[in-house]
Amino acid sequence: MIDNNKNQKDKINDELIKSYEIGYIFENKPINRFKTKPTLEEKLEKLDNLKESIKMVEDCNLKSNSKNIVFNDGDINSPLMIVGEGPGQKEDEMGKPFVGDAGQLLDKMFKAININRHKTYITNVVNYRPPNNRKPEPQEINRYSKFLREHISIIDPKILILMGSTAMESLFGSKLKISKARGSWKELIINNKTYLTMITFHPAYLLRQADQKKYSWSDLKEIRKKIDQLKLNL
Ligand code: URA
Repeated sequence: MIDNNKNQKDKINDELIKSYEIGYIFENKPINRFKTKPTLEEKLEKLDNLKESIKMVEDCNLKSNSKNIVFNDGDINSPLMIVGEGPGQKEDEMGKPFVGDAGQLLDKMFKAININRHKTYITNVVNYRPPNNRKPEPQEINRYSKFLREHISIIDPKILILMGSTAMESLFGSKLKISKARGSWKELIINNKTYLTMITFHPAYLLRQADQKKYSWSDLKEIRKKIDQLKLNL
């Protein structure tokens, strides 16, 4: 009943509250508002540790069926972080995200708003290729979500782009519909920090549904506008 009375904003807020970690709500340590930026070496060390933790995952159907871990690509100091779904065949072979057909479209999409892909930072929801390129199962998305949150926290981007419903579900839960959630700025809180987030369609989906490219183009223009407003160096 109550749910019917909720407007879209309330519903998104509920999702947001669900995304908070317990530590955020019950944290008894004071928030350190004077945190200094980590050095490049510290960031690299944290990323190495995270990669090692992912490699330690046990009994994972994705990991046991894939050749390589696909962890990241791009500039670790980029203000723009992109999250895809999971590696495909080419990514699995090369150990790098978005190097196949979807990756080529991703490059074109960002080029269209004057951004060189190499100036961004890219990762995926799951770091091992799902068998036959299937969508990761909800429990797989959940299992890898803590790694993704940690990953975002380490990179600490000014703008986060979630490409596709898997990336959206990993961070906002499964209640949102991408067709409604895409295209507007949302706030994602991780480790007491708010990340300005845009959900948009995945390039692989656009390769199958070319008629949806008009929405993607509108989202890309919003992203460009925000980059200019924030005077980000991209
Ligand atoms: N699709 C993704 O979501 N990620 C990749 O790395 C490649 C294709």
